[in-house]
Amino acid sequence: MRVILLGPPGAGKGTQAKGIADAYNIPHISTGDLFRENLKNETPLGMKAKSYMDAGKLVPDELVIDLVEDRIVRDDCKGGYLLDGFPRTVAQAEALDKINEKLGQSIDFAVNIAVPSDILVDRITGRRSCPKCGATYHIKFNPPKAENLCDLDGADLVQRDDDKAETVATRIDVYEKESAPLVDFYGQEGKRIDIDGTQTPAEVAEAIKKALGGDR
Ligand code: AP5
Ligand code: MG
Repeated sequence: MRVILLGPPGAGKGTQAKGIADAYNIPHISTGDLFRENLKNETPLGMKAKSYMDAGKLVPDELVIDLVEDRIVRDDCKGGYLLDGFPRTVAQAEALDKINEKLGQSIDFAVNIAVPSDILVDRITGRRSCPKCGATYHIKFNPPKAENLCDLDGADLVQRDDDKAETVATRIDVYEKESAPLVDFYGQEGKRIDIDGTQTPAEVAEAIKKALGGDR
């Protein structure tokens, strides 16, 4: 199964991804996570992406497309994959179709998690994540058991550099201009599934499960 997660920053893509990837036994590929990993390791790609990410802007298409192509041709993607945060422009979506065509395959579903912008700001500015295992929390909506410590490994939680209020507004703006057209793109391809992302995380997970074919 090849699935794409669409939705604005803070919609809950990362929150839902693990459950879907585990259920279908497919790798979860988050371009944001891949860039953050490259940044942490100070790779040339990370250095190129840094200024765009810090400003809340999109990294140029050519850098992202190459990164994703290198990842989805690997053996562990033979049975499918879950893309989180890619594609984010129509050019990226067209490139993905071409890559899949070369591989003799296509996307099965684009899950569009819809959340209005006034809710997004609260979600993003309250997000905290574990630098060790990547688990994500929210200070109000999904707090860790012990204040600011990861439930899974006890590490101190951190705030993402681009989650400060001033950058969040730019990210939402960029989404509206550059990524929102993908909702129509996948609608026209007949692959889009719309999910109400304002429900609780458990309800969103249940709605996605139902839409992707019930019991997995
Ligand atoms: P990326 O890491 O993809 O960030 P994003 O799209 O801004 O998405 P987020 O990770 O902020 O949101 P999410 O939907 O995953 O929400 P989450 O589940 O964490 O990209 C970062 C940057 O990398 C980009 O700005 C760009 O520079 C670059 N980049 C990446 N991909 C690119 C591409 N393809 N092209 C170009 N550049 C690219 O949830 C958010 C919070 O809400 C959490 O605290 C969570 O606990 C809480 N929450 C989740 N669900 C619910 C719920 N149902 N109810 C209440 N709270 C909830
Ligand atoms: Mg995410």
